[in-house]
Amino acid sequence: MLYITTPIYYVNAEPHVGTFYTTVVADALMRAHRARFGNYGTVFLTGTDEHGQKIERIARERGVEPKAYCDGIVKQFKSTWKRAGVAYDRFIRTTDADHEAAVAEMWRRMEAAGDIYLGQHEGLYCVGCEDYKTDGDLLPAPDGGAWLCPVHLRPVEHVKEPNYFFRLSKYQQALLDLYDGNPDFVRPATRRNEVVEFVKGGLRDFSVSRTSVKWGIPVPGAPGHVVYVWIDALTNYVTALGGPFAVQAGGPEEEQWRSCVHLIAKDILRFHAVYWPAMLMSAGLPQPRGVLCHGYWTVKGQKMAKGIPATRVDPNAIGMEIGYDPLRYFVLREMPLGEDGDFGYEALLQRRESQLGNDLGNLLQRTVTMAHLFLGGDVPAASPDGELYAAAERARADAERHWDAFAPSRALEATWEMVRAANADIERVRPWDLAKDPVRHVEVPAALAAWCEILVRAALMVAPAMPERAAEMLRQLGRESDEGGWPSANPSWTGGRLRAAVPIFPKIDKAVQRDLVAKWTEAQGAQGAKT
Ligand code: MSP
Repeated sequence: MLYITTPIYYVNAEPHVGTFYTTVVADALMRAHRARFGNYGTVFLTGTDEHGQKIERIARERGVEPKAYCDGIVKQFKSTWKRAGVAYDRFIRTTDADHEAAVAEMWRRMEAAGDIYLGQHEGLYCVGCEDYKTDGDLLPAPDGGAWLCPVHLRPVEHVKEPNYFFRLSKYQQALLDLYDGNPDFVRPATRRNEVVEFVKGGLRDFSVSRTSVKWGIPVPGAPGHVVYVWIDALTNYVTALGGPFAVQAGGPEEEQWRSCVHLIAKDILRFHAVYWPAMLMSAGLPQPRGVLCHGYWTVKGQKMAKGIPATRVDPNAIGMEIGYDPLRYFVLREMPLGEDGDFGYEALLQRRESQLGNDLGNLLQRTVTMAHLFLGGDVPAASPDGELYAAAERARADAERHWDAFAPSRALEATWEMVRAANADIERVRPWDLAKDPVRHVEVPAALAAWCEILVRAALMVAPAMPERAAEMLRQLGRESDEGGWPSANPSWTGGRLRAAVPIFPKIDKAVQRDLVAKWTEAQGAQGAKT
């Protein structure tokens, strides 16, 4: 069983390559899992986080109702994911009726546990983070004025209002026991250590309602209060399975819930690895499988962020020109999950040319073209022996191991070992010479069968990263449709007739590449100028 979630994204801006990355990683992990183990017991959830002060303000600035404003951005998220081949099962919105009911139920459970009390809150609030900041977190403003949030580089606001509080402090030991008993609860280990240190340092109760904000879910039985946006947002993961009742011990979806992996970046680690498990404990609910935390995409060293326009790389601008699959591949392969990576258009085009065009595309093009030239397009079944087949089996085992360990970049590297081995094999065998050899020309069909074998395997093994291009590979290899699936120890190429060769990653002229980079860079600035 596997339930994968992405964060639900704020609707204060369109998707950028940062949010694209998390969503594509989740999609690829789910596709790899389904290819190998089938669809049963799998759920892939993404969506949008629509309540809170930030959204309330933006909608007001634009003179529209918050819900209408959200509807517009949600459309953009959905169309981006659709074009990018993101196959989620549900797109949840915190304005959905079932979610509002689930949040109210979470609240009642936490209240019944004696963990919610009324108090007065006074503090410095960052609307960008939707979070209170302590003095130690802040940066001094260059002009000596208000303090700045270190993430958003914007002034924090002084807030004083009656709030309900959640007794987080009560859960310090229980949380430490959770990390201790379940070492994989937070991955990678560096992030886990950070979380453990933070919790050991002591936990403060935090405020879980607002009276100054109207755009939110009402607190049950407390008119004037709306539920703090993070309590609202985190609950989405449970809503999607039917709410607290469904996932509680013995509930119909308990097992599915326990298979849940929350994919996030390190900016929201504390919410997922500390606040959320404590909320679940308070509400009497089981824990998910854990939190998988990746790093940041940066642009010239600065974190790609909605609020910093010059860093905001638009996945649609790229996808419209060169297709979404090369971008999916690039982000999955280039940045090992957990590390940071700097995004560059030149690197994207360079990898597209070398790894996609020259390695994978060329293998397909050469093989299909030669099969038509030497065999009239009919290639016999592959046999499961020889050096190349052994290399393919090693690559399959490695890729499986890496997908299972949530390491897409390594899984793709393993797949490329096999692709490169096949290209080297073609150079070594020199089929163009063999075909002319009066004695050895009989070896050509088996050689082509061996390369078709690698190509079917490669198509299946790159499909989690590039579903659309993988389907096109299979089509040229004579498959009727994208059957999905994953190679086994037996040959995948059982013989058949190939279709005409069409380049899957057509070469882009250097001058055109330069124009593309200029255009994308310019659009990035222009996009910023609008906000
Ligand atoms: N709404 C909250 C999440 C609530 S989940 C219960 C939120 N939204 S967000 O729109 O700011 O999205 C943050 C997430 O977007 C990150 O955790 C990460 O998944 C993704 N990323 C945003 N910028 C990113 C990078 N520069 N690099 C990598 N991932 C990025 O926080």
